[in-house]
Amino acid sequence: MEALDNILNRVSARNLVQPHPNEDELELVYKAALRAPDHAWLRPSRFIEVSDEGISKLSSIFDEYSQTIDDISPEVAEKYKNAPYRAPMIIILINSYKEHPKVPAIEQKLSTAAAAQNIMLALNAMKYSAIWRTGKLAFNRFVSNKLGLDNTEEILGYLYVGTSDGKNKKVPELDIDNFVSRL
Ligand SMILES: Cc1cc2nc3c(=O)[nH]c(=O)nc-3n(C[C@H](O)[C@H](O)[C@H](O)COP(=O)(O)O)c2cc1C
Repeated sequence: MEALDNILNRVSARNLVQPHPNEDELELVYKAALRAPDHAWLRPSRFIEVSDEGISKLSSIFDEYSQTIDDISPEVAEKYKNAPYRAPMIIILINSYKEHPKVPAIEQKLSTAAAAQNIMLALNAMKYSAIWRTGKLAFNRFVSNKLGLDNTEEILGYLYVGTSDGKNKKVPELDIDNFVSRL
């Protein structure tokens, strides 16, 4: 079954080049994201799409951030500044926490994580590739503020998106019995 093959064969890709998905394809990608399970339908996820001049704007924000770090090495500063250029498109994953008596913050973050996986699967189905990255540039108040997030919002990661430059990685063969037990 095609849908299952899409899930079983998805791999992340580090070397991402043009083309990135077009507007119509991205609409499907975001629709897939918004089909993530979402307790009480709080809609705790939103996304910032970065491409074209957005990439250099994000690079400037990362550069500004690196200037706030005492003793940062020139290599690390350069790495932060260049990070957004690793793909033609970045989808920033944002969790927008909504106060609710039955839905703790962790559930809302899990919902955004499920949305991220739906995005990667939708991209894979359309022959695009992606990689989810976090590190110091995510969960980062300086960067969040620069991107206009409010205090209830958090960056859960960056999905670097494009077309894989080369062959897809091999899917690792894992023994299911090492991961599944039965009661
Ligand atoms: C929440 C989260 C954060 C991640 N952050 C990074 C990261 O900062 N850098 C990185 O190289 N991989 C990161 N990864 C791992 C890659 O996205 C990817 O899953 C991993 O390389 C395994 O490849 P695969 O998806 O093909 O199995 C992260 C994964 C998750 C789920």
